[in-house]
Amino acid sequence: MNSAITQAVTILKQGGLVALPTETVYGLAADARNAVAVQKVFRAKGRPSDHPLIVHLATASAMDDWARDIPTVARDLAHAFWPGPLTLVLRRRPGVLDAVTGGMDTIALRVPDHPLALAVLTEFAGGLAAPSANRYGKVSPTNAAHVEKELGAVVDFILDGGSCRIGIESTIVDVSDGKSTILRPGFITPDEIEQITGNVLEDRLGGHVRSPGLKASHYAPHARVQIVDAREALGEVLKWHERNVRVGLLASLVPEGCPAEVHLLRLDERLEIQVQQLYSHLREADACGLDVLVAVPPTGSGLAMAVRDRLYRSAGLGDVLDQSV
Ligand code: TXA
Ligand code: MG
Repeated sequence: MNSAITQAVTILKQGGLVALPTETVYGLAADARNAVAVQKVFRAKGRPSDHPLIVHLATASAMDDWARDIPTVARDLAHAFWPGPLTLVLRRRPGVLDAVTGGMDTIALRVPDHPLALAVLTEFAGGLAAPSANRYGKVSPTNAAHVEKELGAVVDFILDGGSCRIGIESTIVDVSDGKSTILRPGFITPDEIEQITGNVLEDRLGGHVRSPGLKASHYAPHARVQIVDAREALGEVLKWHERNVRVGLLASLVPEGCPAEVHLLRLDERLEIQVQQLYSHLREADACGLDVLVAVPPTGSGLAMAVRDRLYRSAGLGDVLDQSV
């Protein structure tokens, strides 16, 4: 057994906090059956206590230890996507800690697709409550150095698994009532989910049903993020530049005439690369001390929706997410 994994498991069993890599982002893990350990997660993140956590499991069969009345659609989705970037919201079993679920009657479960996370979960032989390993409202970490910088002083151990393969959080689907409702867009797209469920999703994010605690401002860098259309990008950047504001541009196309002093954070044309770049770009905006980041979100469905969701929230515009961009 890898000694880093043994160390992580020992700390978790003693009620400590371990940051661990998943395929999406790094998680801040604690024993989901230990109320004191779960409390430490909230304190470390500065997260409000009514904001529920995802419980990570080693296998889909462990679902039954945490959830009851599991509908067929949930088992089908688990079978299709686990291990992987999908979180299922189900009715919780009695005995699950209120601290984990924010006192709700439901619980969020996921089997991550990362060899180190799975090794820890298998050896731990239980559920690990693990939110993204960042301070509340800030940008999610996609490598161990991000975690060290932000939470190094409060975690007991950081398991370094390099950079996260996906780079954006899991898709959250509420299946607690047997229908499927997307609460947070992520790497698994609505189309992929519909292919398994055979149904049109209850809510393709058109309504206002959302995960509790997905507040409007989230994933926020220090810089003020300004969302613009591609056609407006140059004008906005020039406006800030002329006022001597330290401005950056996050976009896949750089407009002709963009001044050399503007800090460019280029997004790849390919959406699966964009999701990998997004959080490191937002961190870079901070690292180079930008005051304003002008951002051009991708248009279209699928993964573009997940990128838009995060960019809108980083701008503090979560409430207007449902307007098409
Ligand atoms: O990819 C991910 O999901 C990452 C990695 C570490 O697994 N985790 C993550 O956790 O993003 P966190 O805590 O940053 O976001 C979890 C989201 C929150 O918005 C929370 O409101 C929602 O999951 N959630 C948790 N339990 C829920 C429940 N019972 N019903 C509805 N939403 C829930
Ligand atoms: Mg988070």
